Amino acid sequence: QKPVTDAAAQKVPALPDAQTVTEVQHYTDRLFRFRCTRPASLRFRSGEFVMIGLMGDPHPETGKQKPLLRAYSIASPAWDEELEFYSIKVQDGPLTSKLQHLKEGDEIILRPKPVGTLVHDALLPGKRLWFFATGTGIAPFASLIREPETYERYDQIILTHTCREVAELTYGRELVDSVRADEMLAEVIGENFADKLVYYPTTTREESPKMGRVTDLLRSGEIFRDLGIEGMSAETDRAMVCGSMGLNTDLKEILEGFGLKEGANSEPAEYVVEKAFVG
Ligand code: A2P
Repeated sequence: QKPVTDAAAQKVPALPDAQTVTEVQHYTDRLFRFRCTRPASLRFRSGEFVMIGLMGDPHPETGKQKPLLRAYSIASPAWDEELEFYSIKVQDGPLTSKLQHLKEGDEIILRPKPVGTLVHDALLPGKRLWFFATGTGIAPFASLIREPETYERYDQIILTHTCREVAELTYGRELVDSVRADEMLAEVIGENFADKLVYYPTTTREESPKMGRVTDLLRSGEIFRDLGIEGMSAETDRAMVCGSMGLNTDLKEILEGFGLKEGANSEPAEYVVEKAFVG
């Protein structure tokens, strides 16, 4: 039992819906992740997003400050006792220009109302689940590849991540490595769960083992040849898409071409799409 005089217990949050940052890690001059405390009352489904942010600058005349909030996918799974977020850093971005300076112990605002379409409930049962991400669009899948339900529902999970440069793949690569080595997941799902997870990273503007936009690799069939898969079908394949507007539009067309239909929470089907919010 901790004494009630513990400084942390007495700390009064200065912000509405305040949570405390517990860890910050920078990957490139454009990308970082951070973890923060999770409100005890916050329940969410892996893959959902919430509004987070900071207090904005004081109004020049009234001096009043308003919260500056943006939608962020929760990158941690539903069972995690903390929350994780993966963010772009934009030097003149209203929120990310400030957010990138977060340090352990700082406070952020978190509105505890999770929503989103990249959830298992929005897909009909299938055999293979594809995650298609560009850039920070990997965040909801960072949550879902740590979620036991993902491995219980599917025989194979394929995470594709397309970035401009190799360094932008680091977060995803480290995450996949940590999931494969996760003893808790192995205990919950079974020793061989990691064999189900396939990682397919590609770059478009820097040399790497696999180059090209995932959309082009799908259209040419190269990704199927690489993975030893015949193709996609509405019977076996399910997909979740999260990236730029361009990626989302192009992939919709490709998935529809394979006969997959878009689903929603209220009407599950074969694929779901959400835009990567920040950046
Ligand atoms: P590209 O370099 O060919 O534009 P960004 O950093 O601009 O958000 O892009 C992240 C990654 O997403 C880049 O590798 C980019 O490729 C890729 N990308 C952008 N638009 C599309 C699209 N319509 N389909 C597939 N990949 C895309």
